[in-house]
Formats: sequence, C-alpha cells, structure tokens
Amino acid sequence: MIAILNFGSQYNHLIARRIREAGAAAEILPYNISNGELRKLKPKGIIFSGGPKSVNDKNFPAPNREIFKLHLPVLGICYGHQVIAKLLGGKIETPKIGRFGKEYVFVKNHNPLFCGLSSKQKVWFSNNDIVTRLPKGFKNIATNHSCPHAAMANNKARIYGVQFHPEVIHTENGKKIISNFVYKICQAEKNQEVKGLSGKLISEVQKEVGENNILLGVSGGVDSTVLAALLHKACGNKLYCVFVDHGLMRKNEVIEIKNIFKKLKVKNFKIVDAQSLFLNKLKGVSDPEKKRKAIGHTFIEVFEAQAKQLAKNAHIGYLAQGTIYPDRIESAKATNKADKIKSHHNLTLPKKLNLTLVEPLRDLYKDEVRELGLELGLPKEIIYRHPFPGPGLAVRILGEITGEKIKILQAADDIYISEIKKSKDYGKISQAFAALLPVKSVGVMGDMRTYSYIISLRAVTTEDFMTCDWYHFGYELLRKISSRIVNEVKGVNRVVYDITQKPPATVEYE
Ligand code: XMP
Repeated sequence: MIAILNFGSQYNHLIARRIREAGAAAEILPYNISNGELRKLKPKGIIFSGGPKSVNDKNFPAPNREIFKLHLPVLGICYGHQVIAKLLGGKIETPKIGRFGKEYVFVKNHNPLFCGLSSKQKVWFSNNDIVTRLPKGFKNIATNHSCPHAAMANNKARIYGVQFHPEVIHTENGKKIISNFVYKICQAEKNQEVKGLSGKLISEVQKEVGENNILLGVSGGVDSTVLAALLHKACGNKLYCVFVDHGLMRKNEVIEIKNIFKKLKVKNFKIVDAQSLFLNKLKGVSDPEKKRKAIGHTFIEVFEAQAKQLAKNAHIGYLAQGTIYPDRIESAKATNKADKIKSHHNLTLPKKLNLTLVEPLRDLYKDEVRELGLELGLPKEIIYRHPFPGPGLAVRILGEITGEKIKILQAADDIYISEIKKSKDYGKISQAFAALLPVKSVGVMGDMRTYSYIISLRAVTTEDFMTCDWYHFGYELLRKISSRIVNEVKGVNRVVYDITQKPPATVEYE
C-alpha cells in the first residue's frame, strides 16, 4: 500500500486513482498522522500531496520531521515537494510570476523516477512557490525555465520531489512517473487487479463475519445491489436484506428491485412498505432541507424498527454498508470549511443497534464496483443505471409533496427515460430525470382550457458530479418526449428542458 498524506490539493483523488490504475493499493490519510499509526498500516512508500498553503506561512501544514526516520521511500508532489525541501533544510521562495498550466521540463532520465522517459517532458504545473535551494544530499533531476528545481532526488534515502503534477492527465507521462515510484522505488505489490476481485472479497468477508448473520439496507442503487450479490455469495442465507419503500421511487422500480433479489436468490429479503408513513411526515413540508431531514429521520426510524424486529428471530451480528472509496475520503479532508449545499440522506449507522460495521466495497471506486457487479453476474441494466438520490423523487418535486404529484412525475419520468434508452442517448448521459415544478400554467387541449403542471427535463454529463454540463439532445427526440408527456400524462400541459450547468445549478432540484 502507498500512503498519500493529504495536504488539501483538489487532485489528491487522482493520485490514489493513478496508483490503483497501476495495480497497487493506495490510501489517502491526514497529513499529520503519527508514525505509530503509519507503521500499523505497513505502507511501502509515502506520497506528500499538493496543497493550497505556502511552506513560508507560519504554522504551515507539515508532518513531523520524524516521518523520515521510518526510512520509507517518499515522493513529494507540488506543495509536498516544497514540504520535503523545507523540512530537510532547503529554501523556498515566491517569485513574482506563478506557473499554471502546461510547460516543458528537461528530466534526468537515468534517475529511477524518470526511468524510461525521454528528456523533454510535457507536464502540468500549478504553483506560486518554488524551491530555490535543495536540501543537503539532494540532486536536481529536472529543470524548467521558470522553475530550476522542477524535481529533486536523494536516491540513497529514496526521497523524491516533483514541482509539477504527475497525477493529472495533462502531464503526458505522469502515469509512468507514478508507476516508477510505486514499483521501481517502493517495490509495492501489484494486488489491486479488479479482475478476480470477487473471490478475494468473498473470502475476506467470510473471514470477517464468520458464522454471524448480516443485515444490509438496500436501495436498488448500484453499490448496495453489488454488495448484496457479493454478501449472498459469501454468506448465503445468513444475509438479511431490508428495502424501505418510501413511496418516492421511480415508476415500477420496487417491482424491479423485487425481481433482482428474486434472481439473486436472496432468501431473506424484505420490502417494508412505509409509503403512507413518509407521505404523512412530508405533509405540509415544502422547504428542501426540512424535506431531506424528515426523510432521513423517518428512514432511520423505520430501519431501526426492522432491525429490532429481525433480532427477535435471528441474532444479527453485523451491519453491512455499501460505502465506497470516494465516500471515505471525506474523513481524511485537510480542511473542513466546505459550505454545506445539501444534507445528503444516506443511511448513517444506527449506533443504537449495536452492530459491527462491515464495508467490503470500502476501497473501490465506482467503476470498480461496476466491474465487480458484472463479474458477480448482475445485469448490465442495473450496473450502468444512472444514480438516484436517497430521498428519491422528493427532491424532484419542488415544494410540498402529494400522492398526485408523485404519480404525475413517475409517469413523465418513465416516458423520458424509456425514450432516451430507445434512442441510445442513455449511455452517453451521466444522469437524466424529470422534475415537477410547483407552478401551473395555462394551455389548450382539444379546444379546452387547461391549467396544469410543468415538467422540467434534466440530463447532465460529468466525470465526478462536482461539475456538470447539460446534454445536447437532438430536437426531434425532445419533440417526441414532450408530446408523449403532454399527451399521456394527465395533469401536465407544458414541458421544458433544463440548460443549466453545475455550478451554478446543482444536479437535483432540491
Ligand atoms: P447535486 O444535486 O448535489 O447532486 O448536484 C450530485 C449527485 O448526488 C446525488 N444526490 C444524492 N445522492 N443522497 C444520495 O445518495 C442524496 O441525498 C443525494 N442528493 C443528491 C444526485 O442525484 C447526483 O448524482
């Protein structure tokens, strides 16, 4: 495993991603983790990430100097490069002009870090400060016209620093540089192949939970379905799945979920019909955050009651969660100053249940979870399904929720999604859905005046859902979807297409 110490760079995710792509394990950790904690994790090497601070600031973020006494290979990237220089006695200055974007560097390719590269390399810089004097024992191994020490090395101590970012795709041979560090310098093991991963995960889970029964809350989404398939293979009838139907699912989705679990042959699968309870709790609530909170609390209440009920007949020792790697990175955040945009409702471990948590997908990225799902034999329609938020249609019906509005939206959304599946646009879109606007407008149908709701269609493309663009449909397809919705869905007389990026809008409407 390679430990990545997090100094707050927006590219940290990518460092872990590149190491994983190269086939080794990586873990993002707080920058001030103690030597004791690090030792327990048995890393083969350490990467100091980039970050927004300057090492010339008072109280600049840095690990304890003792970290070098672990005698592990270290690679510093950008701020991490400067941290190494600063801690070991080099000098860092802030020239008048920074370096942002593509640049060329000339590398000394006899060094193990740059082994296999030609001497001129296109790389990506994003920094103000530069190292102007190397620490004792270090040699320069790359230069750039405005950044003379673009990389440095102390081969004997196996400590390296690069001022540019090898983890971003704009650094042409970044993958090779990272792979050189991981394999040539750290001699890490290649043990992260997703192919054949199911076998490894199954035996790990079996070892972890032993003869105990496991409870899993499922949502119909990719992560929890893949996890159910995995746990079923590992533990058979010791797996108990609970699906809480809050009545805010897409049309026919509950039946689909039932069929999936039937196909998976999960014997202990329970659908809890809590539709009227949720509708009651949502009565008169139109503020988005209050809606999200009401749903979150009710969900936990229902789930807890189910767990207690279950415990009367079967002793449950473990609670499984479909937590994946990006969910966990949050806890290693260098700063906690991000503005809260929405309270995401995902099942937070009900502490009162006194169950041990098991998270077999905790080290996987979404695309790896998908590959695992395919390996476990789940159908492609499930694996490549667009994401669906925990609070379901509640965040797509603006304002107060009623049974009538849910039915209208389910019908409109179903037409929209089935048309874009037919036209083959579905696979090119990251997420598409219909939303119901809380206003009525005047129309005319068969010479009669109508006064009905407006449906807004949304389709976005994105890599990570942090920023999104709207999808460019053909006009004819939009025309077809719009006429089908107004003709077939009673209560709608107008359809609009949302052409807003994120930011400034978010994906969901509430
Ligand atoms: P926003 O609306 O925040 O959505 O731009 C980004 C992504 O997150 C999904 N989303 C949620 N997922 N629980 C979830 O599991 C939630 O409460 C939630 N809210 C938004 C959204 O569908 C999109 O994919």
